[in-house]
Amino acid sequence: MKINKIGAKSVLDSRKQKTIQVIVGTDKGDFKTSAPAGKSTGQYEVKSYAENLAGDIEFIKKIDVKEINIENFEDLNKIEKLVGKNIGGNSLFALEASLLKALAKENGKELYEFIIQTSSESSDSEDSKFAAKIKKTLKMPRPIGNTIGGGLHSKGKGGKKPDFQEFLFIANGKTFKESFEINNKAYSLAGKLLGFFKKRNDEGAFETDKTNEEVLEIMEKVKRDIHDKCNQEVDIGLDVASSSFYSDSRYLYKNISKELGRNDQIAYMSKIIKRYNMFYMEDPFEENDFRSFAELIYETKGRNCLVVGDDLTTTNPERFEKAIRMRSINAIIVKPNQIGSLLKVKQVIEIAKKNNIKTIISHRSGETMDNTIADLAVGFGCDFIKTGIYGKVREVKLKRLIAIEKKLRR
Ligand code: PGA
Ligand code: ZN
Repeated sequence: MKINKIGAKSVLDSRKQKTIQVIVGTDKGDFKTSAPAGKSTGQYEVKSYAENLAGDIEFIKKIDVKEINIENFEDLNKIEKLVGKNIGGNSLFALEASLLKALAKENGKELYEFIIQTSSESSDSEDSKFAAKIKKTLKMPRPIGNTIGGGLHSKGKGGKKPDFQEFLFIANGKTFKESFEINNKAYSLAGKLLGFFKKRNDEGAFETDKTNEEVLEIMEKVKRDIHDKCNQEVDIGLDVASSSFYSDSRYLYKNISKELGRNDQIAYMSKIIKRYNMFYMEDPFEENDFRSFAELIYETKGRNCLVVGDDLTTTNPERFEKAIRMRSINAIIVKPNQIGSLLKVKQVIEIAKKNNIKTIISHRSGETMDNTIADLAVGFGCDFIKTGIYGKVREVKLKRLIAIEKKLRR
């Protein structure tokens, strides 16, 4: 593919903080990607920028386009060799995604189609056959939406807030569009039950001063109402993000002041899964404690609860392999900028599929209007997408998925 230019600049994310945008120009147009930013970042994520944002921008601007020779997904390894350690995870993700968008266009394909084509074993690129194949093998992810917030992402009310970071609804509609609508309905109902407290946090989730359990009671009531009154299904999940309140071997709960050691935290997480029939539990233990994750899976087996690694695994193939060896998780969060390389993102998803582990592609708390992760979700066949529910930067990813589904149903 002939590239005319590669540019980079800083743009503002939803928290009004600077992030990188990379632009790849070809005869077919300009292809842009901007990177998101986390707040409760994992200790084992790659750095966002090698030294700083300005340094990465300068490096990318100086890349000689003649040195870039890329024709397919696997050629990203040439790019990774070329840039080496001169840029961080945010910049590498934005650069690789823009190159893939340009390549997809060059091949007359949408980004998700291009990824499906490059990751499928057969080289059946004849258009009509390819289109039929995509329709047959296509899987839409289920949306996971942040509804009520606590922890690091929230300010709370009068200084009080739940300790868990995200209270999540996971709709189970017949189509992606129906799931999108169910999550929206669940979000509004939860807002009403909270007493119309109108403040929302970084991710568009409602703020509250309620305790973890009080919020879970509300989530449960919404789930029941949606089942009984609308004949639709929604599951409940939690991102505990427990590394953010772990210190000196204790989990420090502030809302109802208590400190739990490792064993008590396992018992508490297990009790919540059983009491509230939880479908999804992310980072219930701090990011080094592979063993407690495994004990929770053992304690709750037969309950079908996803025990999910985010800070534990940081989209890192080696950490993921360790989690598999230790039977720590049965689902993994995939955040492209945690690792930067889309080759490694692909590798993580392949490892997951081989080991029967569910995949959740995810936004970050600081987001832009970029919708790349929607295409990655379909392209890589992820089981879930975590994007939030409320706010333009969240909706734009969900709307892209609705558009993809519509196209594929025609
Ligand atoms: P982050 O948090 O984007 O602020 O890192 C999201 C999460 O923990 O899932
Ligand atoms: Zn998380």
